[in-house]
Amino acid sequence: MAAHFSLRGVPIVIAVDRGLRKSLSAQIYDAFRARIARREMRPGQIVPSTRELARDLDISRLPILTAYAQLLAEGYFEARIGSGTFVARSLDPKSFLPRPGPRDRDNSFDLPSKPRVISARASALPPYVRSLPAEGVGPFQVGQPDLSAFPLNVWSRLVARRSRNMRADEFLYGDPMGFVVLREAIATYLRTSRLVKCEADQIMIVSGSQQALYVTARVLLDPEATVWVEEPGYWLVRKVLKVAGCRTVPVPVDAEGLDVRAGVRLSPKARAAFVVPSHQFPLGVTMSAGRRFQLLDWAHKAGSWVIEDDYDSEYRSGGMPISSLQGLDTESRVIYIGTFSKVLFPSLRVGYIVIPPDLVGRFATVRQSMDLCPSASNQAVLADFIRQGHFIRHVRRMRKIYAERREVLAREIDRESGKLCTIVGAEAGMHLTVLIHAKIRDQEIAAKAAEKKLWLWPLSPTYDDVAPQQGFILGFGNTRSAEIPGAVRVLKELLSRS
Ligand SMILES: Cc1ncc(COP(=O)(O)O)c(C=O)c1O
Repeated sequence: MAAHFSLRGVPIVIAVDRGLRKSLSAQIYDAFRARIARREMRPGQIVPSTRELARDLDISRLPILTAYAQLLAEGYFEARIGSGTFVARSLDPKSFLPRPGPRDRDNSFDLPSKPRVISARASALPPYVRSLPAEGVGPFQVGQPDLSAFPLNVWSRLVARRSRNMRADEFLYGDPMGFVVLREAIATYLRTSRLVKCEADQIMIVSGSQQALYVTARVLLDPEATVWVEEPGYWLVRKVLKVAGCRTVPVPVDAEGLDVRAGVRLSPKARAAFVVPSHQFPLGVTMSAGRRFQLLDWAHKAGSWVIEDDYDSEYRSGGMPISSLQGLDTESRVIYIGTFSKVLFPSLRVGYIVIPPDLVGRFATVRQSMDLCPSASNQAVLADFIRQGHFIRHVRRMRKIYAERREVLAREIDRESGKLCTIVGAEAGMHLTVLIHAKIRDQEIAAKAAEKKLWLWPLSPTYDDVAPQQGFILGFGNTRSAEIPGAVRVLKELLSRS
C-alpha cells in the first residue's frame, strides 16, 4: 500500500478529559483508532512521539506509552527503528473496524447530487480538466521551450549564490510592483530591443501573462464591457474576460492582423481590444503598420484601451525583432504585457505589465487585492541572469536553434503534404500553423495522433465562433530537427487516411 506523505512534528488533534471515568490511556487508544478508521490518519503517516504528545496534551508520558504499546501490539501502529512510530502501512481500516456511522463517517465530503449555485462568471467556463502531461507526449508540443538547451548550470549557480546570501528584509512583504532591480533590467531590455516607451516605475512584475491579463481586466473593464478579441485567438484571454464578466467580440484576423474596420463595424464602442501584434496566436501574423495606426486611432477616438500581448516575439528568424505597438502610441492607451515563459521557461512564472504612468497606482492596488507582491527569490535570480548577460546569450542561441527547426518543419511539410495544406506563421516564435484544405475534423485527428504519440493541437477550438477552417498548431520548441521528418510522415498518414 502506498505510504502517505507524512509530516513530522505536526500537532495532532486529540482531546483527553481527566474528568471522565475512562482512563487517559484508553481515551488515547480510542482516539487514534477512530482517527485511523475515519482516514484522518493514513497508513504510513508518522505519529507524534510520546514525548511530543505528552507536551501537547499536558499530561504525563505514562498513559501515552500504555496506549502506544497497545496500538503497536494490535497492529495499528508500527515502529521503525531510528525513524519513529507510524500508522501501520499494511492497514486497511475498513476491513477490521465497524462501518463508520453517520456521525463518525469516513473523512470524505458528502456531496449534493445536484450542482450547487456558484457565481455566473465562474459558471460561464467549463470546469478545469487536467490536460495531458507534456513529457512523453511526443513531437509538436505547443508552447514548450527546449530546456535541454537552457543553461541550467548558470541558473543553478545563481540560485545557490542568492540562497547563500539572503538578506532578512527579503523575507518580508515586498513592493506589489516587484523587485526594483529586475524592473530596471526589464525596462532597459524593452526600451532597447522592443522599442517600448517605459521607465522602471511603470513596470509591474507578475506571475506570467495570465496574471497580467487578469489584473489589467480588473483595472480597466467593468462587467458587461465589450472587448475585441482576435478570431482565431488566444483561448486563455477569453477565460480571463469571461471571469471578469466582460463580453467578447470576435474580430477576424487576416494576413495583416486584426481587421480593425471589422471591429469598428461589430462593436465601435468596445472598451478594449486584445491583440498579439508581433506574432499573432495561432496564425503567426505580424500586424501591419497600417493596421497598427488604425487600431491606435480607434482607441484614441473611442477612449478605449489596447492590451498588447508580446509573448514570444524574441524568436524571429532573419531581420530585426518587430517593434512594439506600445512604442507607436502617443496617448498612453496601450497596456503592454510580456512574459519569460517562452524565452526562458514556463514554470518560472514571471511576466510583466508596462502600465501608463497615470495608472500605476490603480494597477498596484488591484494587484495587491489578489496577490500582495511577487515572490522574492525568483525575481532576484532572474535579475542576476539578465544583468550578467546570460539572458541575451540564451536568446541568441535559441533563436538559431528554433530558426533551424522552423525551416526543417516547413520544408518537410511542403515536401510531404504540400498539396494538403498551407503553412502560416513560420517567421517567428516556437510554432507554426497548418491550414488543412481537405474536409477533416481537426479534433478527431488530434485524438488519433495522440494515440501515436504525436501532439497535434487542433486549430478549430481557437475560434470563439464556428471555425471556418480546420488545421493544426505545430510546436517545434521542444521537437529536435531529427525528429521532424518522421513526425511529419505520421501527420501525412493521418491526413491521407481521413
Ligand atoms: C498568446 C499567448 N500569450 C501568453 C502566453 C504565455 O502565458 P504565461 O506568461 O502566463 O505563461 C501564451 C502561452 O502559450 C500565449 O500563447
